[in-house]
Amino acid sequence: MSNSILIFGGNGFLGSHLADFALKNGFKVTVIDDLSTMERLNIQNGVKFTKAKVENYTDEEDYKYIVHLAARPSPEDYIDHPLDTLSSNSWGTQNALDIARKSGAIFMYTSSSEVYGNASIIPTPETYYGYVNPNGIRSCYDEGKRFSEALIMSYHRYYHIDTRIQRPFNVYGPRIREDGQYGRVIPRFVKAALNDEDIIIFGDGRQTRSFLYIDDWLTATWKFLTTEGLSGTVLNIGATKEISINDLAAKILELTQSKSKIVYKPSRVDDPARRSADINLAKKLIGFEPSVDLDKGLLRTIRWFKGGN
Ligand SMILES: NC(=O)c1ccc[n+]([C@@H]2O[C@H](COP(=O)([O-])OP(=O)(O)OC[C@H]3O[C@@H](n4cnc5c(N)ncnc54)[C@H](O)[C@@H]3O)[C@@H](O)[C@H]2O)c1
Repeated sequence: MSNSILIFGGNGFLGSHLADFALKNGFKVTVIDDLSTMERLNIQNGVKFTKAKVENYTDEEDYKYIVHLAARPSPEDYIDHPLDTLSSNSWGTQNALDIARKSGAIFMYTSSSEVYGNASIIPTPETYYGYVNPNGIRSCYDEGKRFSEALIMSYHRYYHIDTRIQRPFNVYGPRIREDGQYGRVIPRFVKAALNDEDIIIFGDGRQTRSFLYIDDWLTATWKFLTTEGLSGTVLNIGATKEISINDLAAKILELTQSKSKIVYKPSRVDDPARRSADINLAKKLIGFEPSVDLDKGLLRTIRWFKGGN
């Protein structure tokens, strides 16, 4: 089979970096994206792009790899668009799986650390089943991801197709969605800091996250996708070092030399208190070891927000 890859959601933050990487490595790259979460076009010359939804796209080509990243991953965005969110992670996943099955491709899905909900084991291993509110306002996203995982594993067991599920934990870097309230925490803080606007923290700021720089995500993803013998595997791809949202805000203020003030607002419903990845399995199976520390990654991200590359 030729070196070809089909990427659903390939105009987004993670997907566009993956598309660039595959192109650079001599792959024929096809991107399908409905441009719902990002108006800016991140598609490079040489990539075949079609504006379409993962739910109803049709394709008869043979691909070596199919990666499904299409989703609305920002909490404010998915809470505003719950049905779209569920759709791309149910009918969308099934359609992408059917295309992979016909084409004989290796199928990869980006699930999320959100499948763990408010986890009681930190760092959280893949074997933790999750503590998730099945019908709360975040359920359209986290239950969508959980349903997709069940569907993918059922296709894997029933049709014997090669599937790989990754659960990213808070990846950041250049091209991450930066617009208004739909930005995630790092882009929101960086943008506010660069404009000397208030930095809004939901809750008391003591909740933690662990942030992984895009280059590390890309290295892990490519390794996971292309290593033989990993069919049916579920892997955390994240960082282990936790940082509180208060410390993150202070760090961004310092790195941007901003005059912004920190303003606290009520915490968001079902917001997990702590989040950190147990990456021992990824270390063992694909030799994954994050290499870009937070200060360095933030500086590169800040440079991009200032108009650099
Ligand atoms: N970035 C992270 O930290 C992170 C963490 C956990 C999981 N993920 C998952 O990784 C994937 C990519 O995330 P991202 O950060 O690149 O987000 P993103 O919003 O930048 O990219 C998602 C892309 O999917 C597209 N899309 C949305 N719905 C679609 C549909 N129905 N049909 C076709 N295209 C559609 C959007 O237009 C966008 O280009 C998502 O599935 C997300 O849930 C990301």
